[in-house]
Amino acid sequence: MNSVVLLSHLIKLQFMKGLIIFKGKYGATRQYAEWLATELALPAFHPDNFRKEKISNCDFVVIGSSVYIGKLQIKNWINQHLPDLSSKKIFLFIVCGTPPDEKEKLESYLQGSVPPEIRKQCQVYFLPGKMVYQHLSWSDKFMLRMGAMLTKEKETKKKMLTDYNSVKKENLDALVNDIKKYAGSVAKSVLQPSIR
Ligand SMILES: Cc1cc2nc3c(=O)[nH]c(=O)nc-3n(C[C@H](O)[C@H](O)[C@H](O)COP(=O)(O)O)c2cc1C
Repeated sequence: MNSVVLLSHLIKLQFMKGLIIFKGKYGATRQYAEWLATELALPAFHPDNFRKEKISNCDFVVIGSSVYIGKLQIKNWINQHLPDLSSKKIFLFIVCGTPPDEKEKLESYLQGSVPPEIRKQCQVYFLPGKMVYQHLSWSDKFMLRMGAMLTKEKETKKKMLTDYNSVKKENLDALVNDIKKYAGSVAKSVLQPSIR
């Protein structure tokens, strides 16, 4: 590889980018996004502060969202940005109250909010969230109570209305490792001498 090609590869590597886009309501998703941003030195944006053209400069996108009544908070944003996302590697972290062994339910959140066009390039991580009843808006308290009312099982009903906080930095370990591995493998392929 001559020095000009090497230099251009190194410049490309320098600018190889990822970004984090996240949407939650009460801080659990934001906390995970902030930890990721620090650990991976990536910029993090809420959809309200996001400019569309930023995606086109990226090699990968990390999307974070919490779940309310079965729907990802970031669903609308994903749909609005489908054409831009369709060519990107996506790491999707979903923050929710559903335990990891309830696979069907977790899968239904994906089916309901992530269009099939981009599912193939999505690597998905379910992360445990938090709920402090006192901090919820009037409407969320109401929704939660309605949900509990419609739940027959006594234990589940009680659990739904009980505060919890399972947000821990170590929950991000697998995601952080996978992103580092991906960025590393892309970097390696960029540095391979190209056959002309
Ligand atoms: C009104 C309400 C509805 C919720 N609906 C669901 C749900 O359908 N599935 C689920 O797994 N968790 C559900 N949760 C739990 C949230 O996803 C969890 O509290 C999450 O940590 C919120 O993250 P955020 O603070 O970033 O929004 C619900 C919580 C509330 C308050």
